[in-house]
Amino acid sequence: MEISEKNKIMLEKIEKLMSEIATLAAKNADEAEALRIKYLGKKGDITALMNDFRNVPAEQKREIGQKLNVLKTAAQDKINELKEAAEVQKNAGSSVDLTRTPYPISLGSRHPLTIVKNEIVDIFSRLGFTLAEGPEVEDDWHVYSSMNFADDHPARDMQDTFFVESHPDIILRSHTSSVQARVMEKTQPPIRVICPGRVYRNEAISARAHCFFHQVEGLYIDKNVSFTDLKQVLLLFAQEMFGPDTKIRLRPSYFPFTEPSAEMDISCHLCGGKGCSFCKHTGWVEILGCGMVDPAVLEANGIDSSIYTGYAFGMGIERITNLKYQVKDLRMFSENDIRFLDEFTSAN
Ligand code: PHE
Repeated sequence: MEISEKNKIMLEKIEKLMSEIATLAAKNADEAEALRIKYLGKKGDITALMNDFRNVPAEQKREIGQKLNVLKTAAQDKINELKEAAEVQKNAGSSVDLTRTPYPISLGSRHPLTIVKNEIVDIFSRLGFTLAEGPEVEDDWHVYSSMNFADDHPARDMQDTFFVESHPDIILRSHTSSVQARVMEKTQPPIRVICPGRVYRNEAISARAHCFFHQVEGLYIDKNVSFTDLKQVLLLFAQEMFGPDTKIRLRPSYFPFTEPSAEMDISCHLCGGKGCSFCKHTGWVEILGCGMVDPAVLEANGIDSSIYTGYAFGMGIERITNLKYQVKDLRMFSENDIRFLDEFTSAN
């Protein structure tokens, strides 16, 4: 009688635990594990019942044993279920990015002018030039006066320069020499900079001219800088850009900020210098302007011209790009025609 009373209590406990198990919940894997320990661990409630089961008399073992087994399996299944659910939730939080678009986005390509600009900057940076940039809206001093343009120089004329209305002194820069002026006023030599950027000139838009284009200008100032240094650097640039067989030719020219000044041609890389319609049968194509920095420019920018000399050069990126890719119409560069842009690919 006493034994069966004990068994009654045991059956009640089994039933109570059965209904408890059905309602278990866990917010994460740790909570699920805590439940496992509470019910199925060494000192767990169900384990304790299993231990008590040893004292159940043989004739009642069958009934109680079955119920105990059902309870144990139900507890194991429930806790495994909770652990799995916690795992799925954790993965959703860490590695599944719900903000990602379900379709791949194509990356497009760089603009041809950017590709060529990067190439030019890369060649000169290997020669020790560092990058300098400045504002596109400039004052007259940095674009013209500091560059030795006389007050009545025709380049200041309305024909060339865009003025910001009501501010006759504020203009859109017409060359990136203004960046060189800004570097010189802040730094003493040695100076070795390369200045890429957009420039503006008041010209009618056609296949051969635009009201804005892009330049890269370079400046090197130090003691004993000579024309030979300039020529050597430009030869190296031309051969890196257009191939090792490229030749250069310098023709005397004039710029207000350089003395002496020159324009540089390269041997036509389409016909190898033999003469074709591209080089107008001369075998040469013009690519840049250059010269020794006029001492007046050094002085105007706070550099002692009795100690230092320097050279400068400037080229149009559109011009170099045309030579490399034979783009016939300048307007193609700014019309964003995807069929044109898709023709260019770049690794960087
Ligand atoms: N600033 C000149 C231009 O815009 C280019 C140039 C730069 C020429 C430096 C000589 C030296 O045309």
